[in-house]
Amino acid sequence: MKNSIKPAHTELHRHLDASVRAKTLASWLGITEEEINNKFWLTKPLQNLKEVLDRFELFQKVLTSKERLEVLGFEAMEDAYLEGITQIEWRYSPSFLGEHSKIIWKEAHQSLLCGLEKASKQFNLPFGLICIVSRDYGVDMAEKTIDFALENKKDFIAVDLAGNEASYPLKEYRHAFKKARDGGLSVTIHAGEVGPALNVWEAIDELGAKRIGHGIQSINDQSLLKRLERDQILLEICPISNWITNSVPSLKAHPLPRFLEAGVPVCINTDDPGIFGNTIDDEREVCRKEMGLTKKDFEILEKNAILHSFINL
Ligand code: HPA
Ligand code: ZN
Repeated sequence: MKNSIKPAHTELHRHLDASVRAKTLASWLGITEEEINNKFWLTKPLQNLKEVLDRFELFQKVLTSKERLEVLGFEAMEDAYLEGITQIEWRYSPSFLGEHSKIIWKEAHQSLLCGLEKASKQFNLPFGLICIVSRDYGVDMAEKTIDFALENKKDFIAVDLAGNEASYPLKEYRHAFKKARDGGLSVTIHAGEVGPALNVWEAIDELGAKRIGHGIQSINDQSLLKRLERDQILLEICPISNWITNSVPSLKAHPLPRFLEAGVPVCINTDDPGIFGNTIDDEREVCRKEMGLTKKDFEILEKNAILHSFINL
């Protein structure tokens, strides 16, 4: 039974291809769930984002059949429902998923959707899907990914740019994201997670982002804060992820409370529960304990997430 005491939560930033349930991952790997918790989940900061992203390879190794992708879609939704999530935007990268797998993109996509839709009906949980361009696979792959998103436009609410921000300049993807916008897709961009505030400016002005994944480095640029507030560009904040990727010195020092003070629209999210072992309750707890967020703050975060969701635009 769903726990009705939990406050409603709209999740805008969760990677489907990094949300494999621990029990299922253990069974696919032939190890125990405890081993997943102890050896695989990241619960302390690593050196940097790249080191964290390198650990995602494991998902590519196990997500190798249509059946498994359907299980992933269903269970990820069921887990979200059990956390008390009331609306969710998933995102995944076709190029990341297809790198080692023999399944063609369209078939992988349909298997994921099948699981998501089945669970959506069963749990009465609305969802949307965002197509990720992975920076690390280059500009040609970005074009191919955007074409795929446009060919399947009825299934996608938006496109995103993810991967290692430190090594791949944003401007190179201008053409691909213009095509996506011209085709009617909304844009969110992972920017200012580890890279400078300048990347957030470029995500907005060059790629047309209406939301920013992370964007925490914006805190260092007063005029950017004003721009985010003026144009109501939402930062999808993922506190535990920022801590594990060593993008903030500590959770206490996380800029989230300062964004709230500055009137910048922000919401909180889990990012990659399959690798951090986190739930939205964990995120709320660190916001409360480490950053001193209040009930009123949580109401603002939820209102922002609902207002800025790409679902039903
Ligand atoms: N940043 C960039 N790419 C990602 C992340 C992230 O935090 N999580 C999954 N892909
Ligand atoms: Zn992310």
